[in-house]
Amino acid sequence: MVYTDLASIDFSLDDCPSLARPSRVVLTSPDYFDVQYVINPHMSGNIGGVNQPVAMQQWKALRAAYSALDVEPLIVDGEAGLPDMVFCANQTLPYKKTDGRNGVVLSRMHAPERQNEVPHYAEFFDAIGYDVTSLPEEVDIDFEGMGDAIWHPGRRLLWGGYGFRTDRETYEALSDLIDVRVIALSLSDPEFYHLDTCFSVLDTDSVLIFPDAFDDKALRLIHRFFDTVVEAPEGESRHQFACNAHCPDGDHVFIQEGCTETVERLADAGFRPVELDTSEFLKSGGSVFCMKQMIW
Ligand code: ARG
Repeated sequence: MVYTDLASIDFSLDDCPSLARPSRVVLTSPDYFDVQYVINPHMSGNIGGVNQPVAMQQWKALRAAYSALDVEPLIVDGEAGLPDMVFCANQTLPYKKTDGRNGVVLSRMHAPERQNEVPHYAEFFDAIGYDVTSLPEEVDIDFEGMGDAIWHPGRRLLWGGYGFRTDRETYEALSDLIDVRVIALSLSDPEFYHLDTCFSVLDTDSVLIFPDAFDDKALRLIHRFFDTVVEAPEGESRHQFACNAHCPDGDHVFIQEGCTETVERLADAGFRPVELDTSEFLKSGGSVFCMKQMIW
């Protein structure tokens, strides 16, 4: 079932089965990371502008930050000719099957430039024992994985952004395929083209958002399910990807360095911000959240 407005909500969080916190993280090495085309507004003006050694250093610091929290990193090697592969939240949606086994749904990348990334992740997930599945062939829909489809912490409930990279209809198919409730949120500002650019779940009760990226319908849904809604200011959201933060443990929040106001608001809400520099990746329109995939 897909929900798009408050009036249709006929369940509470307690009606959603519990979901264990994923304990491992998939990262993709940025060996071939670059900006070679423009498929989101942040990339414009940055073609050929990535400093590769600096990008590698920043990525290694991110990997170390996960290890320091005892979240085990599993590495998928980047491939030549796939400069965006480092953003490994986008090619798949890992999930728990109703029988408790691990599954993964493959994305159908909207951007043709990124479509060849997906088979590499299919192979990786198959090799670690995940049941690899795809959306039905007969429907013509785009889906960009966990860039747009984000698990509610601790619950079998999915938040789904649509409008740029993922279609609204995708969520009907996904809901049927993996048997999950989806709350679908419309996105309309091109700088916030994936849900994870303006919405970062922190714990079962808390979320970090950039409110202006959402319409009233979406905001009402967010406030219905999260008691604490931390709001990031416009400049930090638009230019520093403050809401592309990632909270792996319900406590620490990895966030782009220099998001001063957001960091303060997160600390006021009881979280421990960990500032990391992802400036090379911002040139491509991504930061922490889209550079990882949490798995069980
Ligand atoms: N250049 C990449 C793209 O436009 C960046 C993806 C960032 N991922 C994300 N989930 N926001 O596809």
